[in-house]
Amino acid sequence: MGIINKCLFPVAGYGTRFLPVTKAIPKEMLPILTKPLIQYAVEEAISAGICSMTMVTNKHKKAIENHFKPHADIEKSIKNTTKEVLLDEVNAISEQCDFSYVEQQEMLGLGHAIYTSKPLIGVDAFAVILPDDLCTSDSDSVLLQMIKLYKQNPDCCIVAIKEVPESEVDKYGVIEGELLKDSNNAYRVHNMVEKPAPIEAPSNLAIIGRYILTHEIFEVLKSTQPDKNGEIQITDALMTLAKVGKVIAYQFQGRRFDCGSVKGFIEANSVFAKEQLQSL
Ligand code: G1P
Repeated sequence: MGIINKCLFPVAGYGTRFLPVTKAIPKEMLPILTKPLIQYAVEEAISAGICSMTMVTNKHKKAIENHFKPHADIEKSIKNTTKEVLLDEVNAISEQCDFSYVEQQEMLGLGHAIYTSKPLIGVDAFAVILPDDLCTSDSDSVLLQMIKLYKQNPDCCIVAIKEVPESEVDKYGVIEGELLKDSNNAYRVHNMVEKPAPIEAPSNLAIIGRYILTHEIFEVLKSTQPDKNGEIQITDALMTLAKVGKVIAYQFQGRRFDCGSVKGFIEANSVFAKEQLQSL
């Protein structure tokens, strides 16, 4: 108990905010410098000790699968050149991790995407990373920070949170809770609402795309009703568990870029580019 071996990446969305580029390229393959978002996400899972990656995908997103497979022709063409090292990181990932894929047949929300992965997840708790939310940290990765908290609370689901301006709460799941004893960054969640109007939001503590979910979530998702847009929300399923004290919200150390928006994506590229230029 307390060990997290699997990470789930819900990557079936169409990324319509980024059209036209996402017509033929999955949004998770958009690069921050020369590395696609999905690779940053997988590297974060690895940094938290996870080697088993499960993607909830759709039939237009084979590029993600291909990215984590060896490419014999390219490898042959750059062998014994200075470019050989450029594939080292991703090749190391393919060697040390296993990948499994399941198709989400209908776009019925994040809760539905997570439920779709049930046959591949097994019986243990698991991590979820939304690759749109690119997180960086000077010390432990955000997922590793969350796993450390989960180990002390193995009956609970953990969600990552961050303060956002009040005017932006309607883009997020928002929580209300009380600080855990002896903690200044972990809350026992009492209430959570998906994308509330600012006037109805219980706080400005927004859920960011990192979760540790206990296996119990599948039972709850099965009976979670769709929202007014016909989507099954993970926030609503988690609320059922919050009612019995089984959800903790964790205000993580680190920086988050909202790469699901064009603005956040440009910002991430600009911050990473500045750092790269300084090191050249
Ligand atoms: C999803 C979740 C939301 C969360 C957000 C984080 O929303 O439903 O609760 O705050 O991710 O990025 P989405 O951005 O997929 O609409």
